[in-house]
Amino acid sequence: MTASYDLIVIGTGPGGYVCAIRAAQLGMKVAVVEKRGTHGGTCLNVGCIPSKALLHASHAYDEAKHAFGAMGIDASPVLDLPKMQAFKREGVKGNVEGVAYLLKKNKIDSYFGTGRVLKSGQVAVTLPGGETQTLEAKSIVIATGSDVARLPGIEIDEKRVVSSTGALELASVPRKLLVIGAGVIGLELGSVWRRLGADVLVVEFFDRILPGIDKEIARSFQRLLEKQGIAFRLASKVTGVSKPESPGKPLGIDIESAAGGVAEAIEADVVLVAVGRVPYTEGLGLAEAGVALDAKKRVLVDGHFQTSASGIFAIGDVIAGPMLAHKAEDEGVAVAEIIAGQAGHVNYDVIPNVIYTSPEVASVGKSEEELKAAGIAYNVGKFPFTANGRAKSIRMTDGFVKILADAATDRVLGVHIIGANAGEIIAEACVLMEFGGSAEDLARTCHAHPTLTEAVKEAALAVGKRAIHF
Ligand code: FAD
Ligand code: NAI
Repeated sequence: MTASYDLIVIGTGPGGYVCAIRAAQLGMKVAVVEKRGTHGGTCLNVGCIPSKALLHASHAYDEAKHAFGAMGIDASPVLDLPKMQAFKREGVKGNVEGVAYLLKKNKIDSYFGTGRVLKSGQVAVTLPGGETQTLEAKSIVIATGSDVARLPGIEIDEKRVVSSTGALELASVPRKLLVIGAGVIGLELGSVWRRLGADVLVVEFFDRILPGIDKEIARSFQRLLEKQGIAFRLASKVTGVSKPESPGKPLGIDIESAAGGVAEAIEADVVLVAVGRVPYTEGLGLAEAGVALDAKKRVLVDGHFQTSASGIFAIGDVIAGPMLAHKAEDEGVAVAEIIAGQAGHVNYDVIPNVIYTSPEVASVGKSEEELKAAGIAYNVGKFPFTANGRAKSIRMTDGFVKILADAATDRVLGVHIIGANAGEIIAEACVLMEFGGSAEDLARTCHAHPTLTEAVKEAALAVGKRAIHF
């Protein structure tokens, strides 16, 4: 007999599993289909969670090596990479098991197999043994996420030429790591292996790192990474990677200026391809089901996550917008509420972006470049962590807070932070912006002393040119 549901969600990454739970909370009978052996998607299995575990562990190693001495702690750390990898795997296991528990608790049926949309209301699941099961539902949500973007002529073998997935699994520290792409993955995973001892060179096509973020922040961040020993080759491209004749020898890499020219040959032990991600729509039967894609092959949706086929919705990395777990989660909640007849909504103006390096980089809202391009007059308030009491006392003075506020109304339009714990600190800016708060609101909010968050208050005071400590 064909099993029948109110909602079938294809893909159990942060978008899909959160959508399924919210729908179950709203009284729907829900099934999820997942082709990986575990729930949690890219984020929990090969993305956010394992990368943060390695960033944390490698940071601890680096601190023990370089920062403990000044605090009077004599430590000579010895790297045990298999143990560090086991630490990472434990973190992943705990998280994916947590999602399985939550799905069960909410009485959601899990089908482990590859889902394909047959038509509105019908999904076929190909189970690992090859047999197919057909499921029916009033609504279908596509939450199949994204896959690694590849470069023509550069074959990823996940051993020596790796994507983020292989870079999280290296069995030894490469002597030389070449990273293609100075985006989030390149800088986070480049940092991991740099801290563990690799020589890291990052090749970026544009003449700056992190093309999407505020330029002043990116420039300052690049200088800090260079101080940590990461080298950059900007406005450049890798045109070829050749495998050595014997396995122990380095890979040969050709680099050219982005504009073209004479190629320079260098060597590396491992190459990390980190040039972005692409929506994952393969084998889903979307064309046959009448689900249209946009020019970038993302599933096309309207403001209510509705695709061109009735009763079929899409969320997360597979649709337009930042490829971030929390964006996918918020869309998951919103679409479940919309399907239930409620007013689900995502505020795309307030989606934080965090890079979990040391120091961290966090931003929300508009950059200076975006405000200039939109012709919006703004005031800037900045405050450096060198002038923050807590940062000085713990010697974490790298970085600054920058607040951009509307010149006419003082409403905060963007907050950008480089500094220790920036990823946690940004949350107060998100709350302020969600409520349409002004720099004055922030400046008049009492912040505990001594905390790094006082730098946010001081930056807000600086918008009105009245910072106290700088
Ligand atoms: P996914 O998490 O990709 O999940 C989609 C799921 O659908 C997958 O499990 C896949 O197996 C399944 N699927 C696909 N097709 C089918 C099918 N036909 N049938 C059944 N199942 C199918 N974001 C952050 O916000 N913070 C971070 O720190 C962060 N770090 C990252 C680090 C790395 C190395 C990477 C690669 C990504 C990182 N991201 C981070 C991005 C984040 O992982 C994604 O934005 C997020 O996972 C998107 O969620 P999703 O639910 O849309 O898709
Ligand atoms: P990205 O889009 O952040 O960066 C890719 C970089 O590669 C860009 O700077 C781009 O200009 C460059 N590039 C593209 N083609 C190139 C070429 N041929 N040669 C040299 N450089 C080239 O993509 P990335 O880092 O792969 O990450 C993918 C997605 O995963 C991102 O959208 C990001 O949002 C998400 N992610 C988020 C994290 C976080 O929130 N902390 C961590 C890791 C990933």
